[in-house]
Amino acid sequence: MNEEKLWCLKEDGYHAELHKYYEGLFTQGNGYMHVRGSFEEGCSDAPQDEEYLRFPDNVTLEKPRHPKSKQGTFIPGIVGRHPLLKEEIINLPFYLGLEFRSGGESLDMDRCRISSYKRWLDLRDGSLHRSFIWETAAGMRLYCKYDRYISMADSHLCIQRVQIEVLSSEGSLEIKPTLRADVRTNGMSHFARITPAAEPEGSLSLDILTEEGNQIFMLSTLEVSEAVTWQGEHTAIMASLRAECPLKSGDRLTVRKLTAVTTDRDIEEGTVRDRGLLHLDQARDLGWEELYHRHAAKWKSKWQDADIRIQGDDAAQVNVRASLYHLIRSNAERDDRVAICAKGYAGEAYFGRYFWDTEINLLPFFLHTNPQAARNLLLFRYHTLEGARCNARNYGYRGARYAWESSLSGEEQCANWQYADHEIHITADVVYALYHYMNATGDDEFLEHYAIDILVETARYWCDRVDWNPEGYGELLGVMGPDEYLPFTRNNAFTNRMVKFSLEQTALCLSKLLHSKPEGYAAVAERLDIRPDERELFRHTAEKLRLPYDSRTEIVPQSDDFAQYADVEFDTLWTDRSRPFGHFISQERNYRSKALKQADVLELMLLFPQEFTREQMKAAYAYYEPITTHDSSLSAAVHGIVASWLGEKEEAAKFLQRVMAIDLSVEKKGAAEGIHIANCGGLWQLIVYGFAGMTSAMWSEDLHLEPRLPAGWEELSFPIVWRGDRYRATVRPDAYEVTKLDRRKSDASQTI
Ligand code: BGC
Repeated sequence: MNEEKLWCLKEDGYHAELHKYYEGLFTQGNGYMHVRGSFEEGCSDAPQDEEYLRFPDNVTLEKPRHPKSKQGTFIPGIVGRHPLLKEEIINLPFYLGLEFRSGGESLDMDRCRISSYKRWLDLRDGSLHRSFIWETAAGMRLYCKYDRYISMADSHLCIQRVQIEVLSSEGSLEIKPTLRADVRTNGMSHFARITPAAEPEGSLSLDILTEEGNQIFMLSTLEVSEAVTWQGEHTAIMASLRAECPLKSGDRLTVRKLTAVTTDRDIEEGTVRDRGLLHLDQARDLGWEELYHRHAAKWKSKWQDADIRIQGDDAAQVNVRASLYHLIRSNAERDDRVAICAKGYAGEAYFGRYFWDTEINLLPFFLHTNPQAARNLLLFRYHTLEGARCNARNYGYRGARYAWESSLSGEEQCANWQYADHEIHITADVVYALYHYMNATGDDEFLEHYAIDILVETARYWCDRVDWNPEGYGELLGVMGPDEYLPFTRNNAFTNRMVKFSLEQTALCLSKLLHSKPEGYAAVAERLDIRPDERELFRHTAEKLRLPYDSRTEIVPQSDDFAQYADVEFDTLWTDRSRPFGHFISQERNYRSKALKQADVLELMLLFPQEFTREQMKAAYAYYEPITTHDSSLSAAVHGIVASWLGEKEEAAKFLQRVMAIDLSVEKKGAAEGIHIANCGGLWQLIVYGFAGMTSAMWSEDLHLEPRLPAGWEELSFPIVWRGDRYRATVRPDAYEVTKLDRRKSDASQTI
């Protein structure tokens, strides 16, 4: 395979039924804004302004709307309120609009005579390309080539280019750039005011005020290689221009659209309009080439820090890069007011909300490739502590309780009581992640200034949430673990261990602070109003919190009551394994059965590997894997890692395929509703923790590998940041090496 193929996701030929899948998969973005891979001209029979009321449901099993196409333009932080579903990220106006018409016929992939269609996303620079031949009803043959990218260098800019070559005949071509607000978010419009306007010299703008009071300004300017005269054609919900251009055989025409998007939420000062104009002016001053050069250089440096190279498995190579691309794209590098939502800002399905996915699935990738980004993700939890306090109060507890589905402010948004009320492990997952960050980076200041507030407040919540049994042991009752197919269990092994850890660390770090930095402790004690007996309460609760297993337990039970749930005859019930198991069983029956949605005990073993013997891991894998449905996309990677640790190479390879298929399989079309971003982070973990066998920085001072490469992999190589230093790990079937990278060199290459 040539190098380019290892960097490109391709769509060969247009198939209407795959259009929505590619819209998700080809999402472009730069952390600040994200746009799904929709066609510039839209898609016939796929109106974007359908009004409907989406109801709270189980997103995993819900039947999505919009079978053919759903445009999506998202700016993390711009949210609205849905009457039933609470806070949701707003699908903003579609600013890529660029329509063509010739001889009364509008260009449309479904309705026109199209041949030689190709589309590809180049992962190296996040640019999307499309080419085809359009044979118009009037007999013109036009070769059309589209290119677009969202700048990684100036995050407010999107750059589009269309090149048209007349292969035969002649006629007139109408060009119509648009900015369209006929977009709905889960069937709702969140726009309170829409102001389309013509701007001087072939420019157009759309000024939006959302119901929540955010202002979004979109400003596009057009450049055409032939002289054209633009006419404004606005409607109440759309800014648009129109120009005609006569063409004859052999003519070439280039149309460029440059768009700046600004909002009142941006960190920069000045009105949205002034800043929009400034971004466009700066871009024009730089010129197209320099604009692209800066963008590409940014992507290049990001890839230098993150790329995983695999020799001997080209399919895995391109799949892994696709996941890394979406991870890099989803991260808002300079904004700690947002984290990464469950669909990687590539779809509406999970409302743009923040789950445990961030702390447990995504964080390790950022910790080891971009620690500053990891810090920002955790600062998001610090900034939302007030929301977590409010959640605790709402449930009648002291302290702070992180939301299962977090809004921007940290308040619970999950509209389904089971998860909102009972999936409490998220609060301990946040603390685990704080420790993971501090252990991996040695950023001790973080503890005193930020983490300690979270530790103390969440510990207070846990002390209230624990019930005490007659033997004097603490229990967590009415708990849903990561396995969401059992909503109300007693002492979930994963949750209890995480909570115990969280309380232990809180007590420990308060003691350490008290002895090593009494004045620091005094400040913290005053800020958080720590009572003299609280440290002891945290320690005691940690010590007495029941774990439903001990070191001699052969099969670690998922919960105290797990054995009492009903066995499931999977073969009789689950007749089509290509569909989720949840479709074949009622929720009522599922909730009393031993059918797991996702890894639970195995997830526990992944996070605390040193606490389990190999025999326990083996027994857990053998017992739980056959009853795990993997209906959640967070499951396969965990199984792959544990299989790899157990030396089960074939099983691990099978799970690698599963992980890669979640977004990339054309049959499954998993990316249609957005990217399963936790699974992308899971793939990184499968490779680094699983195949390279890197010991988690949570538990090891030193960078240590124990590789077990899948069959056929000749070499695996990846960069890794370990306690502030950059390394490259290179693994071959019979040997591996870790080389320290020259800091100055790698830093220099980042500042192009
Ligand atoms: C999974 C959760 C996950 C959520 C968002 C659900 O289907 O069960 O573990 O946090 O999706 O990705």
